[in-house]
Amino acid sequence: MKIKKIELFGYRNYDSTVIEFDDGLNIIEGKNAQGKTNLLEAIYYCAVGKSFRASREKEVIKWNGDIAKIKLTINKEIGNKIIEIIFSKSNKKTIKIDGIPILKIGELFGELNAVFFSPDELKLIKDSPEDRRRFMDVSLSQVYKDYFYSISKYNKILQSRNKCLKTITDVNSLKQMLSVYNIQIASICLKIKKYRQSFLEKLNPYAKLAHNYITSGQEEINLEYSGIIENSEQDILKALSQSEDKDIKMGFTTYGVHKDDIKVTVNGVDVRTFGSQGQQRTVALSMKLAELEIIKQDTKAVPILLLDDVLSELDNTRKLKLLKFCSKAQTFLTCTEFKFDVPCHRINICEGNAKIIKD
Ligand SMILES: Nc1ncnc2c1ncn2[C@@H]1O[C@H](COP(=O)(O)OP(=O)(O)OP(=O)(O)O)[C@@H](O)[C@H]1O
Ligand SMILES: [Mg+2]
Repeated sequence: MKIKKIELFGYRNYDSTVIEFDDGLNIIEGKNAQGKTNLLEAIYYCAVGKSFRASREKEVIKWNGDIAKIKLTINKEIGNKIIEIIFSKSNKKTIKIDGIPILKIGELFGELNAVFFSPDELKLIKDSPEDRRRFMDVSLSQVYKDYFYSISKYNKILQSRNKCLKTITDVNSLKQMLSVYNIQIASICLKIKKYRQSFLEKLNPYAKLAHNYITSGQEEINLEYSGIIENSEQDILKALSQSEDKDIKMGFTTYGVHKDDIKVTVNGVDVRTFGSQGQQRTVALSMKLAELEIIKQDTKAVPILLLDDVLSELDNTRKLKLLKFCSKAQTFLTCTEFKFDVPCHRINICEGNAKIIKD
């Protein structure tokens, strides 16, 4: 799948802009605060229905405006597809595929698969397990709708279970409620574990390849599922009921896939604790590049690659290696200045306006 064109109306600092893209490497150049990241954000929105920024949804509407619109034309094997997202100050956002509004966000997944990377993705390594779970969730949801619905259901049940733990004071009736939730949660728990485990098993060899390539064979990365050890519904049910007393004491559910993590090592050492800044950055990048490979395998289509400000983070050898790697996918790479002699389509962004740069 390739993005042919984007049209933005009243989106962040864009008034009304049409930008056409190339099938290969698109370089989005411009000074600071011109709208480069905003453009990647708009593309990413069409892939997952959410921003990579932790901002409120309505913030994408241009100041003083009432609505914002993104319209993306994608070229697929079967022909063109149009994804539209309309944000409104007064209503919930609407997503349309070929003019038809979708009812659930899950219907959007798979229409456009995207892998996003920015220096901020370092949190994938540095921060809490939540960021690593989100990485698995976003990847898996794009490829498997079943996973998306399962994780949504799991979170809902978990919320209700936790609410009971906080509000019901009578131990007997609480235990009765918990046993009902345990049965509901056990099978979904197992399903999510299996998805994540096999995702990481598939991801690992590609992360190794990418990492080896970028570090010129200096470092070996390893990714492993680190979470619940039980392998059957029965055992999960047992573990859930065994942790009930602890749950009651703590006031929340202490066992389950909401505690999962990814164990990341470089040359056998835990990179989160012992890795240097540069190692952590490269690890996060390798994980993302591996994600691209497995989405490609699972969907039989190459996802698009969105790289925000990544060049400034790397030395020259790594920059060139990354650019070479990009040739595998339609890539959108933002930077303030591009000085590499590689084939690419250069677009300059200035105050929310786009101009093609010809050499
Ligand atoms: N809702 C909005 N309405 C109008 N302008 C907005 C809105 N949201 C953000 N902006 C503006 O968009 C501008 C460009 O943001 P963006 O993050 O895309 O810049 P950038 O080109 O990526 O810059 P940098 O090189 O520093 O990363 C910012 O100055 C910001 O104030
Ligand atoms: Mg930016």
